[in-house]
Amino acid sequence: MNSYCLFGATGGCTNACLVHTLNAGFHATALARTPSKLLTIFKGNIADIHAIKDTLSNHDAGTTGTMQMSLRRPVTIDNQEICATATKNTIKALQEIYKAQPSTVLNKPSITVISTTDVSDVKEDVPFAFRILYHVVLADPHNDKKEMERLITENAGNGGSFRGSVIVRPSLLTGDQSVKGGQGWEKLRVGREDEPAVGYTVHRADVGQWIFEQVVKTGGKVRFG
Ligand SMILES: NC(=O)c1ccc[n+]([C@@H]2O[C@H](COP(=O)([O-])OP(=O)(O)OC[C@H]3O[C@@H](n4cnc5c(N)ncnc54)[C@H](OP(=O)(O)O)[C@@H]3O)[C@@H](O)[C@H]2O)c1
Repeated sequence: MNSYCLFGATGGCTNACLVHTLNAGFHATALARTPSKLLTIFKGNIADIHAIKDTLSNHDAGTTGTMQMSLRRPVTIDNQEICATATKNTIKALQEIYKAQPSTVLNKPSITVISTTDVSDVKEDVPFAFRILYHVVLADPHNDKKEMERLITENAGNGGSFRGSVIVRPSLLTGDQSVKGGQGWEKLRVGREDEPAVGYTVHRADVGQWIFEQVVKTGGKVRFG
C-alpha cells in the first residue's frame, strides 16, 4: 500500500486531506510545528486520574498572515518565501537520501502542492472582480508560489528528485478544514492550466477531499472530466 507524507497537515486543505487519508486506512506521516494540533498521545494508565486530567486539559493555537501599512503590499506573511524554502529543502533532503541510500532512487515519491490561481503564465485564471486583490494585494505570497511551482516542475520527472508532480491551484479559500464543511469534491469545477475553471471561492474541505480522491486514492493519476 502507498504511504503519504504530508507537510502543513495541521491546516485547512491538507488537514482535510489527512482526515480522508487516515479514514481510508492509508499510512500517513506528517511534519508539524505543533504536533499536538493533530493528535497528542499521553502515556498513562486509565486507572490514574492524573493521566486522565492531563489528557482532558490539553489545548493549542496558531497564527499566519498580517496586514501592513502599504498600498502596494498590504498583506505580508511571517516567512515570505515559505513555499519556495519548503520545496528547496524537500529536494535537498531527497537528494541526500538518494545519495546515502542509492536503492531509494528506484522508488522516488511524487509530490503534490497547493499553489494558487494568479500564477499562470499561460492563461488568466482569476475572475475580473478579484484581479486587483490577486495581482496587487497578494503579489508577495503569489511570487513565492510561482517559485515553488518552478522548482517542482524543474525537479519532477526523468532524472528529477520527484517521480511526478501535481500542482493544485485553488481560488480564494473559504471555511476551515472540517471535512463536513464543503459541498463535496465531485461538485467542484476543475480545469487545467490551458483551460482553467475560473471561479471565485472554494471550500478548504473540498480542496482536501479532491486531493484525497484524485491523488491519494489514485496514486497520483489525476483524472479530469
Ligand atoms: N487563503 C486563500 O484564499 C488561498 C487561496 C489559494 C491558495 N492558498 C494557499 O493554499 C495553501 C493551503 O492553505 P490553507 O488555508 O488550507 O492552509 P493553512 O490553514 O494556512 O495551513 C498552513 C499549514 O502550513 C503549516 N506551516 C506554516 N508554516 C510552517 C513551517 N514553517 N513549518 C511547518 N509547517 C508550517 C501550518 O502549520 P501550523 O499549524 O504550525 O501553523 C499549517 O499546517 C496555502 O499555501 C495557501 O497560501 C490560499
